[in-house]
Amino acid sequence: MHKNIKNIEKLVFGRGSFNGIDGIIENKRKENNHFFLFIVDNYFKGKELAGKIPSRPEDVIRFIDVDPYEPTTEQIDSLRDEILNSKGLPSGVVGIGGGSIMDIAKAVSLMFTNEGSSTLYQGLNLIKKPGIYHLGVPTISGTGAEVSTTAVLTGPVKKLGLKCEWTVFDQVILDPELIATVPTDKWFYTGMDTYIHCIESETGTLNNAFSHAYAEQSLKLCREIFLGDDAGQTPDNDDKLMVASLMGGLSLTYSEVGVCHALSYGLSKILGAKHCLANCIAFQHLEDFYGEGLNEFRQMIKKHNITLPKNLSKDWTEEQITAMAEVAYNLPHMWHHAMGENWKDKISVENIKELYKRM
Ligand SMILES: [Fe+2]
Repeated sequence: MHKNIKNIEKLVFGRGSFNGIDGIIENKRKENNHFFLFIVDNYFKGKELAGKIPSRPEDVIRFIDVDPYEPTTEQIDSLRDEILNSKGLPSGVVGIGGGSIMDIAKAVSLMFTNEGSSTLYQGLNLIKKPGIYHLGVPTISGTGAEVSTTAVLTGPVKKLGLKCEWTVFDQVILDPELIATVPTDKWFYTGMDTYIHCIESETGTLNNAFSHAYAEQSLKLCREIFLGDDAGQTPDNDDKLMVASLMGGLSLTYSEVGVCHALSYGLSKILGAKHCLANCIAFQHLEDFYGEGLNEFRQMIKKHNITLPKNLSKDWTEEQITAMAEVAYNLPHMWHHAMGENWKDKISVENIKELYKRM
């Protein structure tokens, strides 16, 4: 009944803190086969940040393109196999990028020590052994992946996380300088992931004083960042967004996400839509569930001249809509939180299909 949550082991926050990585991982280099695996968003290839990665000749740097696809089980398995076959077990993994890179770093660190395909471990507490040391450096803020106990993967059957306490990062470095160059649309969608986390966490049966305290503070920061007099991508707001993302993540860890995330998972699994954009596509039609939050969301959209895709469902087949509704329906913890214990009396696959048809 009561969640016993695992938090990040160590955390650094502050401008320029990225430069401290080398010192932070120095001692860890003695472990396993004495090399680190750096997983970096392909966006940074050839950019200034890539030149600042403190890699040594024995280390492996992998630039991974996470656009437009979400991390897959197959991708994790082949990365793991390739590194183990060529160099053996790394001392640790450093992930530098957005939510997808955070998920890849967390998942591969677990799969280095757990045999077989990652599809075997999609779910709660299915991982058998702790992974290797893993450090997360977010370069875009909002998903809460830096703090979450799950590494979301899309497999052949389901989109579901490797969820256990060993998934959580051993170390996180929050350097707001790294999020300064995020393109405006991505900055907005990803920031809205945090906003939606908090609205969903607050608006449900599992909300409690602990999750509420984090959501309340995170929402306050989101309002300053997206609606305040100094709204927009400023250094001050970058500082705030990094903290809001972390707190939004902590809020939902002790509460739960809701209807929007359930629908978003369906969009990602069946259509391959990216998580944060998928959330925004779904959220704009959920007035029956999140009326007040939706009003504020619309103000944010207007203020930042964001145009969300609409009328998408006219191009979807009935089979696709059914498949998405089934993915969404099969996330009972989200519906339970959003609608209460007897949620099955309140919502059906048919009702969910109607929600998709609004999009
Ligand atoms: Fe999310």
